[in-house]
Parts: sequence; structure tokens; C-alpha cells
Amino acid sequence: MADRPRTPTSAASTATVAEALGGAVPALAAAGCETPRLDAELLVADALGLDRAALVADPGRDLPRGTSRLISERVRRRRVREPVAYILGRKGFRRIELAVDPRVLIPRPETELLVEVALSLPHGARVHDVGTGSGALALALRDERPDLVVSASDVSTSAVEVAQANGAGQGVRFTVADGLPPGAYGLVVANLPYVREDEWDGLQEEIRLYEPREALVSGAEGLDAITALAREAMTGTWLALEHAPAQAAVVRSLLTDATTHRDLAGRQRVTMGCAP
Ligand SMILES: C[S@@+](CC[C@H](N)C(=O)[O-])C[C@H]1O[C@@H](n2cnc3c(N)ncnc32)[C@H](O)[C@@H]1O
Repeated sequence: MADRPRTPTSAASTATVAEALGGAVPALAAAGCETPRLDAELLVADALGLDRAALVADPGRDLPRGTSRLISERVRRRRVREPVAYILGRKGFRRIELAVDPRVLIPRPETELLVEVALSLPHGARVHDVGTGSGALALALRDERPDLVVSASDVSTSAVEVAQANGAGQGVRFTVADGLPPGAYGLVVANLPYVREDEWDGLQEEIRLYEPREALVSGAEGLDAITALAREAMTGTWLALEHAPAQAAVVRSLLTDATTHRDLAGRQRVTMGCAP
């Protein structure tokens, strides 16, 4: 079969998309990346200003020389296990895209469940996001329910800087605070740290080497931050808390009228209930 024709983009071409992927995918696989092809496609597509579908549809496309260098540098970073989201500087969450860097946790797909449980709130309800990080929960809620009065806080000043930049002009108030700032809220949502101290050394290098430890680890049982929030919230305040599946029963015991929701993988991930 004849080779697929190249799609010229520049006179100074050195390689095609297919050749760039052909070099990057085995290199990322050898470095231990779990999804080498997906990662390589994301890095190459972004360097070309394309989406993945356009990239895959045109493997014969030429890479301008500068793009080859940019791709090489990105592959080098990924080979030392830097997460794709930090390399690209952004991560999608629900319908929005957030700027992310090592000051904040990369928002996870399972956290989208917290947004879902909050969508049934009555019109105009007041919601607070504790431990907002990049602002993911607060900004996704504001995007999907513009009627809600949304505020958010984080104990990390640098995280709040990231959230404020992500939320510019969105009408969400971000503050620095340890725990829940005083106030009356229709619902408090929180994806606080819930990893056990002894789990840290076993986490993937992408997490251990690049994400902020204080955003993930919370005491011997991973429950310090969640327990403190359940105790400090005003009696009767509704809380929706993300946690590890194995923590579901303990989290329910911290609340009254508690129910646990499962994530897309069927694991007990979010518990909703009232502060006692
Ligand atoms: C797991 S990250 C979640 C970030 C974001 N909510 C998300 O889902 O992507 C936990 C966040 O909680 C913050 N945090 C930890 N302890 C806290 C506390 N006592 N009060 C407020 N924020 C806290 C961390 O700084 C971090 O940004």
C-alpha cells in the first residue's frame, strides 16, 4: 500500500505527526506512563494547536521545526512523570477548563460527582466549597447553576491565587481560611485531603513528585480534615463530602441523615448529611 501523503504546514519540516508519536509513545511506555499513546497524542495535539481527533485523523501532517522541539521538551517532562495537566497547564472539569500548576491538585473525574449532588439545590441557595484548590467545584457549580450564590476557600494562599485567576469575573468569592468560614450555607461541598499518611509512599510518581502533599494527606486515617469540618459546621448544615471508598462508613457516622453516593466506577465516593 502506498504511504499516506504528507499534509504540508511549513517549508522547514523535519517530521510528521506519525513520526513524532512513533518516537514518543514507546519512550513514555518505557518510562512507566500508564497511558502512553493518549499522553503523547495530547502533548502533540496541543503543540500543534489541534484537538486529539484532528491529530489522529491526519497522521501525515508535517511538524514545523519549532514544534518538534516543543514536543521533545514535553515528552522529556512526561518521561520524568510530570502529569500531562501540569505540562499543558490546564485540565477539563465538567464543562469548564481550569488553569492548573503544582500549587493545586489536578481536579479528578470522580470529584465531578460532588457537582452532581449539588445540582438539585433550590434556586438561589448559598453554597460554600471548602478546600477549593483550583476552584474546580465552585466554578463548575457556578457554570451549571448561575442562580446559586457560590463562595469558596482554601487554607493554602497559593491555591487561592490559582482559584481567583480561574474565577476572574465569574462572581465567586474566594478567601483564604482554615476550615469553614463562618456563615449560613444551604450546602457545604468539600473535596478535602483524605489519603492516609502510610499510603503516600505507594502513590504514583505523578502524584508524589508533583502534586502538593498537603492537598492529599490528612493524618493517620486520612480523616483529620473531614472530621474537623463535620465538627465545626453549624448544627444542621448540609455537607457533601468526597472520601475514599473505605472511609464511607466512618464519614456517615460523623453526620446525621447521611447517604453515600457511588462514583462512575461504582465506589462509595461522596457522603451527604447534616452536621450534628
Ligand atoms: C484534594 S485537594 C482538592 C482541591 C479541589 N477541591 C478539587 O477537587 O480539585 C484538597 C484541598 O483542600 C485544601 N485544604 C486542606 N486542608 C484544609 C483546611 N483545613 N481548610 C481548608 N482547606 C484545606 C488543600 O490546600 C487543597 O487545596
